[in-house]
Amino acid sequence: MVELYINGKAYRVNVEEETPLLWVIREHLGLTGTKFGCGKGICGACTVLVEDSPTRSCITPVKSLQKKRITTIEGIPSNHPVKVAWRELQVPQCGYCQPGQIVEAYALLKRNPKASKEEIVSVMSSHLCRCGTYGRILKAVQRAQK
Ligand code: FES
Repeated sequence: MVELYINGKAYRVNVEEETPLLWVIREHLGLTGTKFGCGKGICGACTVLVEDSPTRSCITPVKSLQKKRITTIEGIPSNHPVKVAWRELQVPQCGYCQPGQIVEAYALLKRNPKASKEEIVSVMSSHLCRCGTYGRILKAVQRAQK
């Protein structure tokens, strides 16, 4: 049994402590906004925040997360500037990687609201987008800064 605190709610989940967080949030809690991509910590599709730090949930066992504050894409308000910019600029193409991208961008601007273009590109390049929406992602992060 693990106790998790996700998007402001406490959950008790009956899983092995080694279970990756991604499985728990999708399969046990029904928070399916966070996506499974590579399962190896490489693509970024599964990114959530743990105490405001972007974290690859596919490789993070739940035992390391007890009593920590976790935020998924569902926990970011729909009127947050990052989500608004994403909609206004119609960033997604297939959309699969976008929850992870948005979570990363949200954390970046929280950490550094005045992040430079170079910093934005550098941080966001840790996420793979097979549709190649990188140009719109950069524009959306910059719009969210205004
Ligand atoms: Fe976790 Fe790719 S699914 S990094």
